[in-house]
Amino acid sequence: MTRILFAAPERTQAAYRDLLPDALRAVGVTATILPGAVEHDPAEIDWIIYAPSSEMSDFSGYTRLKGVLCLWAGVEGIEGNRTLAAPLTRMVEPGLTHGMVEWVTGHVLRHHLGIDAHLAATAWEPVAPPLARDRPVAILGLGELGGACATALAALGFPVTGWSRSPKSLPGVRSLTGRDGLRTALTKAEIVVLLTPLTAETEGLMDARALGWMRDGAILLNPGRGALIDDAALLDALPRLGHATLDTFRVEPLPPDHPYWHHPKVTVTPHIASTTRPAGAARVVAENIRRGEAGLPLLHVVDRSAAFARPAPGRRMQ
Ligand SMILES: NC(=O)c1ccc[n+]([C@@H]2O[C@H](COP(=O)([O-])OP(=O)(O)OC[C@H]3O[C@@H](n4cnc5c(N)ncnc54)[C@H](OP(=O)(O)O)[C@@H]3O)[C@@H](O)[C@H]2O)c1
Repeated sequence: MTRILFAAPERTQAAYRDLLPDALRAVGVTATILPGAVEHDPAEIDWIIYAPSSEMSDFSGYTRLKGVLCLWAGVEGIEGNRTLAAPLTRMVEPGLTHGMVEWVTGHVLRHHLGIDAHLAATAWEPVAPPLARDRPVAILGLGELGGACATALAALGFPVTGWSRSPKSLPGVRSLTGRDGLRTALTKAEIVVLLTPLTAETEGLMDARALGWMRDGAILLNPGRGALIDDAALLDALPRLGHATLDTFRVEPLPPDHPYWHHPKVTVTPHIASTTRPAGAARVVAENIRRGEAGLPLLHVVDRSAAFARPAPGRRMQ
């Protein structure tokens, strides 16, 4: 009998209470699921389903662990954990991707169409917005989420440039890499979307120099991670930029006295750009356990080699 520890807050476990057993049954896995807080012998656990918002941080003693299956896409809080020897997978599921495409598309269209001006208007000023084809967008990070957002925006007609470590081939999306590529992407774009993971290489990616490459009046959207941005540099740059819509922050919840809350050129959304949907996630987790039990390669395994070769990035978020 496969033994699974569910290391997640109670409300998360409750959301999976029926879905997870159903998903395991559907792929033919017979398992016992233990709530994370329950007394257990670590040496008897085969799998850990893990939410970064759980209290769990010490994986030593889990000697027969076959994998830790993270429910979140972002794994910066666990990938460098030296007590964890088993493979780590991150969450990739359709609901998470669709949610991000909707958030990014919605906020791009808000700024593209000038919706704020119409909400505030008290006089008849008929200025039509440009077409999408005349509004260049840059997406930094062209993975599961950034790639889907880039494809969706390109399908609406936006000229989309994506930036990533390795070159990509996505329909209608120009792919750039390297420092020169970053500069080109930022200098050409009127809307910039941050969707790289937080790593030692990307922490502070949007520093004073990179923000300086953005065009006057350009819009910055950050549904990635707060620490991708040098906050002091962004506050300095905002008088020249058009707006920043920020979903993620170095400290979450964003403290009540943070200048972002009342800045006229900042919109704060409370880390809701996208979230893992339990129905899809239960299927992904179950499929990975089926694969692991059958000796097949796991899906969405995190390459942790780089995380061990560098200091951990900034503060862990909630
Ligand atoms: N706000 C929210 O609600 C929310 C929800 C879910 C996720 N997120 C955030 O979104 C992030 C992205 O998720 P994902 O699933 O799309 O990740 P992913 O599939 O791993 O994609 C990451 C992308 O970033 C690129 N990248 C990584 N390091 C880079 C570097 N140093 N320079 C240039 N490009 C780099 C990667 O390039 P290569 O492909 O070439 O390696 C890849 O294209 C997550 O890590 C998480 O922080 C936020």
